[in-house]
Amino acid sequence: MQHDLLPLFSVPFFRANIGKIDFSWDKKQLPDNSNKSIQSVEQQLLNKQKNNLLNLELQKCIDYYAYNILKIPKNVFFKCVNSWVTVHRKNDSTSIHAHGNSIFSLIYYYSVDDLCGKINFTCPFNTWTTGTFEVTPIENNILNLRSVSFKPIIGDVLIFPSHLPHSVDPSQSDNLRISVVANYFPIGDYGPLTGQISLR
Ligand SMILES: [Fe+2]
Repeated sequence: MQHDLLPLFSVPFFRANIGKIDFSWDKKQLPDNSNKSIQSVEQQLLNKQKNNLLNLELQKCIDYYAYNILKIPKNVFFKCVNSWVTVHRKNDSTSIHAHGNSIFSLIYYYSVDDLCGKINFTCPFNTWTTGTFEVTPIENNILNLRSVSFKPIIGDVLIFPSHLPHSVDPSQSDNLRISVVANYFPIGDYGPLTGQISLR
């Protein structure tokens, strides 16, 4: 049947590769939970002077995503408000979660291999029904997907809206899976007449 079909109102998911960039971090970690990823106590990793190169390269990615792809005006600046290191050992995983008090989130993969586990992004409900209506399609396509998985490689940068739920499969690797995670918040003057906001 001749027809037009448009995937309206998509979730903008960005992937690029910037290569391996070394960074400095305090190896102190949050309390260990068995089979859960380890997170650094340090939550301002990218604000350290020693990590300026990585910070600048990641900011370029966020700016490209915001200004070139989403066409956000350049008087709005995307500030990195939290950044930390996540480490997965063998059998470690991360359960499904989203990132609060943030508009865009970024993951930079510093150390991964084929067995380190995929990251999974999940749509909370079918985009074509309400959240309380459940019909399972017989096959998935870009219009009815509820879950998408990616196997990252070293140097990958993923950017996605912070409210998008995601999880990480258990690692099967003997090597550590090390990533840098960062949350970004819009700073500046923006909004319509009745919703104007000025953030510095
Ligand atoms: Fe996350």
